Amino acid sequence: MPYFIVNLDKLHTSDSGAARIKRNLNLQTDDVVLWCKESVKQADIIIGQGKNVYVYKNGVVITINAQSNTIITAHPINAKVRIMETSDYVCLPEFLYQAIFIPEGVEPPPRNIINDPQIFAYIKDFGTQPGDLGVVAEQNGQVIGGAWTRIIPSYGHINDETPELAISILPEFRGYGIGTKLMKKLFVVLRADGYARTSLSVQKDNPAVGFYKRLGYRITEEKLDHAGNEDFIMIKDLK
Ligand SMILES: CC(C)(COP(=O)(O)OP(=O)(O)OC[C@H]1O[C@@H](n2cnc3c(N)ncnc32)[C@H](O)[C@@H]1OP(=O)(O)O)[C@@H](O)C(=O)NCCC(=O)NCCS
Repeated sequence: MPYFIVNLDKLHTSDSGAARIKRNLNLQTDDVVLWCKESVKQADIIIGQGKNVYVYKNGVVITINAQSNTIITAHPINAKVRIMETSDYVCLPEFLYQAIFIPEGVEPPPRNIINDPQIFAYIKDFGTQPGDLGVVAEQNGQVIGGAWTRIIPSYGHINDETPELAISILPEFRGYGIGTKLMKKLFVVLRADGYARTSLSVQKDNPAVGFYKRLGYRITEEKLDHAGNEDFIMIKDLK
């Protein structure tokens, strides 16, 4: 992703732009430009795309014209969810890496951890086998998360009729309902393909356990994975 620096001194907007932003975000302040400048300073991530720069902060995206430094609009993150296409497969290594649970205070593993055959199996030759199904979330033209299934002899495998889930949202975009949207779309895709259940494996300590329960998964088994982590196997009935 290309990253951009915003010229804070030159940042401005029109009266209609300020009114639109106030309305979209229900802002109480009259100094919308100042509010935007503060958001830029504390941004979670700033992404350049075409002629625009997108500033993300606390679930809000501010659109700035990079050439004129005009704040065009701002609104809550509103990611679009769609079926994963072949052209999205290039994102799978990043999504696989981001799907690895890192407990608080623990150093992230090296990126080449995904080359471990047991982990790489989740994406190796994706799209070539029955059960290879996926959805992605897109925000302002950037793919920022994905959920996909496979039937492989891996951690969350329960039988050859049940696709196993993997999911991740890029860190800056977590906690804004995008994962929930992705999962609901994936369930529709799995049902349409005739699957009766879907399974997953998740570390007991991962806050995603609550997320899965909310989406209708139930814990069916507890076991140790090859690295000695305590995992839950969870299953969701799709019928
Ligand atoms: C788990 C994940 C896909 C959820 O997507 P999301 O867009 O953040 O989820 P939503 O905003 O729809 O829902 C938030 C829920 O996710 C949980 N969650 C898990 N990890 C989270 C994180 N790092 N940030 C925010 N929420 C997180 C929250 O506790 C919340 O749970 P609740 O439903 O019990 O309240 C996403 O947070 C993520 O990519 N986490 C890291 C990778 C991971 O753990 N993948 C699962 C491996 S089994």
